[in-house]
Amino acid sequence: MRLDEQGLEQWGEQIGRAVTAPVFIGLHGPLGAGKSVLARAIGHGAGVEDPMPSPSYNLLLRYETDTGVDVVHVDLYRIESVDELWELGWTELGQGLEIVLVEWSERAGDHLPADRWSIRLSPAADATDLREVEVRRIGDPPELPAFPMSVSVRR
Ligand SMILES: Nc1ncnc2c1ncn2[C@@H]1O[C@H](COP(=O)(O)OP(=O)(O)OP(=O)(O)O)[C@@H](O)[C@H]1O
Ligand SMILES: [Mg+2]
Repeated sequence: MRLDEQGLEQWGEQIGRAVTAPVFIGLHGPLGAGKSVLARAIGHGAGVEDPMPSPSYNLLLRYETDTGVDVVHVDLYRIESVDELWELGWTELGQGLEIVLVEWSERAGDHLPADRWSIRLSPAADATDLREVEVRRIGDPPELPAFPMSVSVRR
């Protein structure tokens, strides 16, 4: 499935509105693929009103929402050792009412929750404004809204 930025944002907002917490979503793809665009859309759909700046320096930014669900936006691009994961409180993430969105989650190696979604964004070879979106379900995470049915899709 290929989505333009607006389509990706629409799908992300649907995820944020519909998904049941706790849920862990790993976001993959090269620099500039759109992981942060999707994380922000999910956060805003879940009720985050802040602009959600990139967590690439802080590594972890937490947002509270009116529904009692926290959105936790993490970017592991810069971690150099698993010790930094423990400093982030990694093992507790996704235990409470949280939507956990982790860019570069593959950098956590074996330390990923058994039940999770993995979303990979790849730039389309022939169009700078489109991203190929691949969704993988690992274990038994809560449902995501049906993969883009009602969002604008360009082929
Ligand atoms: N279809 C699309 N989906 C998402 N972003 C798109 C799309 N087309 C163009 N873009 C642009 O690509 C950029 C994506 O940036 P973003 O910060 O989300 O990437 P990222 O994957 O988080 O990168 P990083 O690994 O550096 O954190 C934005 O500038 C956005 O406007
Ligand atoms: Mg990013």
